[in-house]
Amino acid sequence: MRRPIIAGNWKMYLTLSGALDLVKDLKERLKGIADRDIVVIPPFTYLHSCHKVLEGSNINIGAQDMHWEKEGAFTGEVSPFMLTDCGCKFCVIGHSERRAYFHETDEMVNKKIKSALIYGIIPICCIGETLEQREADQTFDVIEGQVRGGFAGLTSGQMGRVIIAYEPVWAIGTGRTATPEQANEVHAFIRGNLAGLFDTELANNVRIQYGGSVKPENCDDLMSQPDIDGALVGGASLKADSFARIVGFK
Ligand code: PGA
Repeated sequence: MRRPIIAGNWKMYLTLSGALDLVKDLKERLKGIADRDIVVIPPFTYLHSCHKVLEGSNINIGAQDMHWEKEGAFTGEVSPFMLTDCGCKFCVIGHSERRAYFHETDEMVNKKIKSALIYGIIPICCIGETLEQREADQTFDVIEGQVRGGFAGLTSGQMGRVIIAYEPVWAIGTGRTATPEQANEVHAFIRGNLAGLFDTELANNVRIQYGGSVKPENCDDLMSQPDIDGALVGGASLKADSFARIVGFK
């Protein structure tokens, strides 16, 4: 059985006080939940303060990105070592916004995943096709390329610690969600790819989240699909009531 994992990606939103109010509220609302992993993913500048509030609770902290080096002259970057020092257990890698606006490639994603694993950070690696690619029938080629490139050179043991987030770019922040069947079809395809590149046991064990306009109204249907193991939530993770409802999916 794969343990569900729900993560809230706050992107570049909230103030420090808003972030603290949100984690305090979530800590209270979600305290009884033990059968799924819960992660909040604040901007870098709020990580440490949010960690202080959540320490010892059932809610983990993740970052939205990281550099692959431990330290160095890389102005503006944040290292995996710094993230663990702030209490981070997870890090989103290769989000489509980083791929589109900051030119992240599969090669960079691959370096970041390997580095995260060295520092004991669980990477949440995002993959997904654009609307153009879906309409040109390229979805499966794009996904296969991202899987091959992003996970190149990993052992089964390393891959077993990676979480994948399938996020069709056309569904992110648009209110347009993939149907549960559309999403599950891609999740199953990803598992098939992993079986070929690694082995069947690994493919069956890797957790694959769905992301893209996940909301209280659609989370139950999405999560009921056999190959969907949780959600990476953007907009709906900025409010305690909607994020708590998604975490508590039935
Ligand atoms: P959304 O974002 O839920 O606002 O569509 C998802 C994501 O980008 O991870």
